[in-house]
Amino acid sequence: MDSDKYPTESDRRRFVKGVAGGATMAAITTAAGAAVEGTTTGVGSGGGTVTYRAAKNTDGPAPRGLPQIPLELDDEGYLKGVWPESEERELDDGTTVTIAEMELGGVTYSTQWFQYCGCQTFQNVQPDGEYDNYMRYSANTRLDWQSEQTSIGERVHVDQFEDYAEWGNGIGEDGYGKPANCTWRSQEVDSEETLPIQIVRSTRVEEAAAEDEWLAESTVDGFIAFLNKCTHFCCIPGFKDSSDAPKFGAANKSYCGCHQSVYDPFDIVERSFTALPRPDTDG
Ligand code: FES
Repeated sequence: MDSDKYPTESDRRRFVKGVAGGATMAAITTAAGAAVEGTTTGVGSGGGTVTYRAAKNTDGPAPRGLPQIPLELDDEGYLKGVWPESEERELDDGTTVTIAEMELGGVTYSTQWFQYCGCQTFQNVQPDGEYDNYMRYSANTRLDWQSEQTSIGERVHVDQFEDYAEWGNGIGEDGYGKPANCTWRSQEVDSEETLPIQIVRSTRVEEAAAEDEWLAESTVDGFIAFLNKCTHFCCIPGFKDSSDAPKFGAANKSYCGCHQSVYDPFDIVERSFTALPRPDTDG
């Protein structure tokens, strides 16, 4: 079980409160498909209501989808996540906060997307934290191909996914997408602050990117990525890594075995939630 399944005590209380608010607000949708799961404005640095793009939560108790991480390939074919430049911004009340956000494919992408499940306290989620942003293979995987063909901490390379259009492992349909369990911005930080990442390379992502401005900018060569912290109680879901997944309608989706939440990495939706404030007060 992941050691940071639960946030710290004080964060857990705030998180649970946010989940309860989500339950009451989950029915609200707009024509654009947005659902507001909380309306409380956070106090502290960088908290508050945030709109983000997510792998849709299609079943189970999770209140909302997994936040997407925009991707790029470097000149040598290694996969990187995009982290916006940080800047100081003065608020209406005269305080100054450090934020990291950018316009990408018609969407405001912000590092606030990752401020839940205790991650808001992590050094590697601070807007001005400097990391190389490469995706690296995680020790925490149940995928045989990854265990057999890659090394822990090795950077993810596009060549390791050449068979993505046909790949399968007996769970769900072959050719749906090739996954890997990775970490991001975590190679030099305490293991308790590791950011678990799900990446999938799929022809479905390529097809969707051809018709959507955000996906065209936030995916690359069929790769898509998410912060892999279940929005229910912060377990680590998996794509095609559990023989139980088909029993819960998740044969070709991402499945959280803790309480059977299901996420669809090929159905990207707009969602809102209350990002938890970072512990520092830089204002
Ligand atoms: S469904 Fe409960 S932690 Fe994922």
